[in-house]
Amino acid sequence: MISIRPFNESDKQKMLGIERLCPQGGQKCALGVDKKDIIARYKMYDNWKVLVAEEKGKIAGWIGFTVKPIPERNKKYAYVTEVMVHPDFRRTGVATKLLKELEEKALEMGSSYVYSYIYEPNSASKSLFGKLGYSRVRDISTPVIATYKKSDISPEYSIVPVDKENTGSAVDLINEYNSGFMHFMPFTAQTFEARLKAVPWYGSENFWIVRDRDNKIVACAGLWDSSRLANMYYAREPAAMKLTRSVSGVLSHIIKVPKITAEGERLKFLYIADHAFDKRQPEAMLSLLKHLSNLSIDMKRDYLMTATDPEDALLSVMKKLKPQIEIWSIFAKSFEGDLPIFRPFYNDIKDMIP
Ligand SMILES: CC(C)(COP(=O)(O)OP(=O)(O)OC[C@H]1O[C@@H](n2cnc3c(N)ncnc32)[C@H](O)[C@@H]1OP(=O)(O)O)[C@@H](O)C(=O)NCCC(=O)NCCS
Repeated sequence: MISIRPFNESDKQKMLGIERLCPQGGQKCALGVDKKDIIARYKMYDNWKVLVAEEKGKIAGWIGFTVKPIPERNKKYAYVTEVMVHPDFRRTGVATKLLKELEEKALEMGSSYVYSYIYEPNSASKSLFGKLGYSRVRDISTPVIATYKKSDISPEYSIVPVDKENTGSAVDLINEYNSGFMHFMPFTAQTFEARLKAVPWYGSENFWIVRDRDNKIVACAGLWDSSRLANMYYAREPAAMKLTRSVSGVLSHIIKVPKITAEGERLKFLYIADHAFDKRQPEAMLSLLKHLSNLSIDMKRDYLMTATDPEDALLSVMKKLKPQIEIWSIFAKSFEGDLPIFRPFYNDIKDMIP
């Protein structure tokens, strides 16, 4: 008989072992996640809960979530961070039980609705959420740029790390850029500085601003080393990628080619966070992306990635750098009335740890 209880510190090592057995995806493509501390991602949130399913003292699975406020609508919503079930316990209703328990708790905590991201090839997870009444409300793009060849940056722009004096102007740009995006909460200079400090392996030294010839801040973005919290790898690599790798292996003897990570090998990437730009100056954002790509090469990373709504103007700028784009779908369920419109959707970087 499966019982559900709150997580405790002594579960951590067993959960890490189970997560290694739980790649997210299907037979043809699945992403594995490798963490040093299973709970580190949760510590970025104001509140969080992890519920553990257990049978005869053995952990069968767990689910995690946080509840966030929408102050202007006086509402709250729950974000499901993950649900994992040990392969020995699958298809016996463990995930269903965990999700139902989570929904009860999220309701008690005042949430109006609940949602989660699901990796496109993860058909098991899509049918689990579908069966429990969740609908697919939005598809989010995760563009990944290979960083292998240094780029020249246009002399039109100066790119420097943010400092105290210009945090306010960068925040104005971020707030304007994201205005109207669902779940975006405008920053003040103070709350943005606090975020830069609070998100581990981020910090103001990794947040860059771009000035144009009139000395106006026209673009900004941060580099977040999220791999310190979770490393990803292809547990099952798509066949097309295997083929490209063998071709690029041959070419690499002649020219510089992007690295295509092998199955099981850790994807060495940096995350582009808190981007914003003046949409009349996409070249400024492109220059910043090239700058971040150059930094990634200096830091011996192979990729730069982010997560964006398809309507986010960043996507068309990134496309100039020929990214590989994967899709994560948002599945949501309402506890009262209709679901709100998840379009365009603001991706909080903290939620992007798989
Ligand atoms: C997805 C996952 C959590 C499902 O856990 P589970 O305990 O086996 O799920 P349940 O037994 O509650 O299944 C409920 C329903 O989900 C669907 N489902 C679950 N696994 C499925 C699979 N492999 N293929 C198709 N549908 C599946 C079915 O509709 C199932 O109902 P049924 O068994 O009556 O047909 C589990 O496979 C897992 O841990 N996967 C790896 C990690 C992951 O992808 N997590 C989700 C992303 S965070």
